[in-house]
Amino acid sequence: MISPARQPSSRGSTAGIGYAIAKGMAQAGTTVVVNGRTAAAVERTIAKLNSEIAHANIRGVAADVGTADGCATLVVAEPLADILVNNVGIYGPQDFLEIPDSEWTHLFEVNVMSGVRLSRAYLPGMLQRNWGRTGENHEYDETLIISQVVPSALSDENPITSFMCVSRTLEFEMLEMYF
Ligand SMILES: NC(=O)c1ccc[n+]([C@@H]2O[C@H](COP(=O)([O-])OP(=O)(O)OC[C@H]3O[C@@H](n4cnc5c(N)ncnc54)[C@H](OP(=O)(O)O)[C@@H]3O)[C@@H](O)[C@H]2O)c1
Repeated sequence: MISPARQPSSRGSTAGIGYAIAKGMAQAGTTVVVNGRTAAAVERTIAKLNSEIAHANIRGVAADVGTADGCATLVVAEPLADILVNNVGIYGPQDFLEIPDSEWTHLFEVNVMSGVRLSRAYLPGMLQRNWGRTGENHEYDETLIISQVVPSALSDENPITSFMCVSRTLEFEMLEMYF
């Protein structure tokens, strides 16, 4: 799937799974563009990948892809991507009844709209070149407790799936409460 000519953009790649994906792609000989919110983290990541992989071809863009401006910054800096890895996703245990609207909006912007905006930006080029891949990295685990699942359900970048996950999780919780 990955050839040396392919150029992926991996967002949310200064740590965790995104870093591992970026490393694997770089080891496969792919030009990798890493993304995180700060220049310091991006530069540190590029240096680390270069120290771990001989002849790695790594670039980076500091941009908060949880905002429209941040997505635009990334796309202006790196207008072409053959492989887009939509990895960024924020989540954590929170009490559903205490999550304010502002937090839901933030989760939606970071976890859903980042993928929407970047896919919309890179997809036309992939179609034009007749080759491209986009990938998401999200999970939904019904065995987790609601305080973990509801925010993490919204880390799925397909908005429909996100809402289905949230409502299904609440249904499970209601069933547990009343039966
Ligand atoms: N951990 C798990 O067990 C697990 C399992 C399955 C799937 N997942 C999914 O995998 C994805 C990554 O999880 P993770 O545990 O690897 O996360 P993580 O360790 O917290 O890493 C998050 C990455 O995203 C970047 N980031 C966060 N907000 C950003 C923003 N607004 N703009 C740009 N970059 C941003 C961070 O970079 P900076 O801090 O430098 O900005 C960091 O590189 C999530 O979507 C999660 O749902 C996780």
